[in-house]
Amino acid sequence: MRFNPVLDKLTAYRAGPPISEIRRRFDLDKIAMLSANEVPWGPFPEVVEAMKAALDGLNRYPDGACDELRRLVAGRRGVAEDYLVFGNGSCELLMLLGQALLSPENHTVFPHPSFVMYQIIAVSHEAPYSAVPLTGLDYDLEAMLAAVQDNTSLLIICNPNNPTGSYLQPAVVKRFLERVPSDTVVVLDEAYGEFVTSPGPDSAAWLAEHPNLVILHTFSKIYGLAGLRIGYGIAHPQIVQALDKIRQPFNVDSLAQVAAIESLRRPERVEERRNRIAAERSRLAHRLFEMGVPCHPSEANFLLVDVTGLGIPGPEVAQALLERGVLTRSGYAMGCPGWIRVTIGEAEEGELFLSAMADLRETPSKVALAHAMDDLDADALSLES
Ligand SMILES: Cc1ncc(COP(=O)(O)O)c(C=O)c1O
Repeated sequence: MRFNPVLDKLTAYRAGPPISEIRRRFDLDKIAMLSANEVPWGPFPEVVEAMKAALDGLNRYPDGACDELRRLVAGRRGVAEDYLVFGNGSCELLMLLGQALLSPENHTVFPHPSFVMYQIIAVSHEAPYSAVPLTGLDYDLEAMLAAVQDNTSLLIICNPNNPTGSYLQPAVVKRFLERVPSDTVVVLDEAYGEFVTSPGPDSAAWLAEHPNLVILHTFSKIYGLAGLRIGYGIAHPQIVQALDKIRQPFNVDSLAQVAAIESLRRPERVEERRNRIAAERSRLAHRLFEMGVPCHPSEANFLLVDVTGLGIPGPEVAQALLERGVLTRSGYAMGCPGWIRVTIGEAEEGELFLSAMADLRETPSKVALAHAMDDLDADALSLES
C-alpha cells in the first residue's frame, strides 16, 4: 500500500480508556472529569426537547446550508448570511482552513503552547510553520508579527488561549490585526469566548475592515454540546466559498443544527453558566493560592496550575491525581512542563481535586515510589482537547 508519506510525521490521537475502566482499575467511587474543557452540564432542557422532536426526521439528510441556524447566527453576530460557514465541530473548520490555505509553499504562524490542532494542520499539509513561544504564559504578539514571512498564508490566535486561559483584550487584538499583512488569513479561535466575564466589542465587527479575518466558535463548550460536534466560522464570503468547495455537502448533522438553534435562543442560560463557571474558577484559584499552589489568571473554563511545588516529578502529577479520581491534563503533553490544566466543573468535583492535591502534598515520596513501578501512561488517560 502506498500511503501519503506525511503520515509518518503524524501520530494518531490516543483516546483514553473508558471511565468504567479507570473506575475499576483504581477502585474509585467518584471520578471528576476535568481533562477535556467540557462543562459539567448537559445541553439546556429546551435543547433536549427540540432534539427529541427532531428524531423522526433522521431518515433525511440534513440541511446542507444550515439555513435556519445561519439566519439566527447572522442576526446575533450582525453579519450577512454569506459570512458564515458551519462545521462538524470547529476542529473541522480548522482542518478545512488548513486544506484551503496550507501547502509546502505556504507558511503558518501560531502560538505555543496552544491548541494542538494548529500544529497538526501545518504538519498534515507539509507547511513550514513558526510555533511562537509564549512569554511568561502570555502572548508575545511582537514575536508573532516578526514570524510572519512573505509566504505566510495563515496566522492563528486562540483567545482565551488553551491551555493557559490568558485573554487578550479586544483592543489589543484589533491593533494586532491592523499590523498583519492583508494577504495573511488571521484565524481568531474563540472556542472559549463565551466564558469571558467582561467581553469587549464583538470581534465580528472587525470583518468589514479586515476581510482576512476568520472567527471560530464552537457549541462544544458553554452550550454543553461537545458530543454532537458543531461549530461555526465567520469570514469574508471569499473565504467561506473556499471552505464550501472542500467540505462534505452534509457536514453538520440535523440534530446538531436543531440543538445549536435552540441553544442560541437561550442567552440567559449561557449567562448563568458563565457566572457559575467564573465563580467556581475564582473559588478554586483562591483555595489553591491558600495551599501555596499558584495558577495562571484565566478567562476560560479551565485553570493552568503550577505543580512544581508538590515535590513529585512533574510528569507524574496527572497520573497521581487520576489515581485519586481526578482526570486533568498533564502540561508535559501540551508544552507546559510543571503545570497541569484543570477544567472547571461542579464545586463537588473541585473539592475532589483540592483534596487530591492536598493528599499529594502530604505524601509526595509515596507517590513517586508507586509511580516508579507503574506502567500506566497518564497522557493516554487524559482526553485531548
Ligand atoms: C482552542 C480550541 N479550539 C477549538 C476546539 C475544538 O472544538 P470543537 O469541539 O468545536 O471541534 C477546542 C477544543 O477543545 C479548543 O480547545
